[in-house]
Amino acid sequence: MEIKRLDGFLSKLGYCSRGDARKFLKIHEVKDGEIRIFDPSKKVLHSSITIDNETLDPLSLTILMYKPKDVVCSHDDSGKLIYSLLPPRWQNRNPKISTIGRLDKDTTGAILISDDGELNHHLTSPKKDIPKVYKVTLAHPISDDAIEILTKGGLILNGDGKPLLPAKLIKIDETTILLEIVEGRYHQVKRMLGAVKNRVVQLHRESFGEFGLDGLQIGEYKILTLK
Ligand code: URA
Repeated sequence: MEIKRLDGFLSKLGYCSRGDARKFLKIHEVKDGEIRIFDPSKKVLHSSITIDNETLDPLSLTILMYKPKDVVCSHDDSGKLIYSLLPPRWQNRNPKISTIGRLDKDTTGAILISDDGELNHHLTSPKKDIPKVYKVTLAHPISDDAIEILTKGGLILNGDGKPLLPAKLIKIDETTILLEIVEGRYHQVKRMLGAVKNRVVQLHRESFGEFGLDGLQIGEYKILTLK
């Protein structure tokens, strides 16, 4: 149960700054139960507030998105940012939301975005072995040798000291594979396929840990937290 000043909630959740809260309350119908509030310093319970008949955004926010192509998982890149697909106020939240790990600009599929540092740490820690499943479209047919090398483990990628763990691989057709890896190294899938003399032409993440894309369309997202 979280109680604090209304302007505290509004600024934490990105609706407006503390300084703009009084103005915000004139423009928007903010209610505590049935009673409209105009005083930004009023102490309120998060769960009893509505803004224009909508409940407040969750105090902690984690979402699962079906990332489209051509958006970047960064806060400060010059390209189109993944965060621009979300309600603008979410970019003003404190703490900030960030992607859990990254997908390349041209990679599609499952990505989590969260302000939950503990969850981020849990899902990206190398010790946790969280499985990530990619559908990979290749420039050349996948060879039996390549399958053997990738699934056996021990491959050392250019510039990395540490050998890779074994991957799981299912061949869908000559140039399409499902690849499950537990590490999350920089451009890992593209570098793995490059190391066996192939090239990734399309990359799509089907799932990240327990989170698959079921039901989501490209660019859509769903909120996972309900606090
Ligand atoms: N591996 C890559 O090479 N790119 C991604 O976007 C994800 C994994």
